[in-house]
Amino acid sequence: MRVAVCETHLDLARRAAEIVVERGRSAIASRGSFHVVLSGGHTPEETYQYLVGIDQGMALDWARVHLYWGDERLVPHDDADSNYSVAFRSLISQINIPEENVNAVDVSTGTAAEAAQRYEAHLKTLKLLGRMGAYPRFDLILLGIGDDGHTASLFPGHQEALDSADWAVGTSPGALPPPVDRVTLTLPVLCRAADVLFLASGTGKAEVVRRILEDEPPVHSAPAAGVRPLSGAVTWLLDRLSSARLSSLPT
Ligand code: 6PG
Repeated sequence: MRVAVCETHLDLARRAAEIVVERGRSAIASRGSFHVVLSGGHTPEETYQYLVGIDQGMALDWARVHLYWGDERLVPHDDADSNYSVAFRSLISQINIPEENVNAVDVSTGTAAEAAQRYEAHLKTLKLLGRMGAYPRFDLILLGIGDDGHTASLFPGHQEALDSADWAVGTSPGALPPPVDRVTLTLPVLCRAADVLFLASGTGKAEVVRRILEDEPPVHSAPAAGVRPLSGAVTWLLDRLSSARLSSLPT
């Protein structure tokens, strides 16, 4: 696990965008495509804006980039609470990416469980399987963390979702507003990424970052602690405020 501390949330966003471009260029050079899972929440919004800003969005061959979501709320895609709408407004609407490369979670009808089954079925039509063959292996997964230790929409105490062997599941609202059901990728998928990048900025994340990085809490109480890639790497990208409670900072 790597921990990097940036001075401000903007420095964090810039570094995160640089990492996305670095991983993207490497994946495209070696395999011809880059499959990246976007995070929900607001922290990554600035990262998406920097991605557009880097070389005016030309830093990546977007025709070879495929976007996915780690989780989605059961609200319309044009709703401000939709993770898709955040990425569309700050990134997708400003880059030249083929529509078929944008794999939004279809939450237009049915329950969260039904939407999760649709998302999983869609993912299974794509050539994403890793060497182990049972789960997709994304090149990069961006994740946020809630102050309760959730990540994506895997919430503390939601044991069925935490134990699921599916690729995606529906979850009921956690403590995270808005109080709507969600679709989330599961731990087996998150743990098979080639690279995981956690983005956490601000004072409000300092205690949960300390707890995750220093206390090694049980997964049921802090699902983010369960994201331990089997063969990939986890990087925590923090800023001064979110790293303030760590007993030792990376050199
Ligand atoms: C969501 C996210 C969620 C988010 C964290 C942090 O749907 O909201 O997937 O896991 O990443 O709650 O959110 P902020 O970046 O807004 O603090």
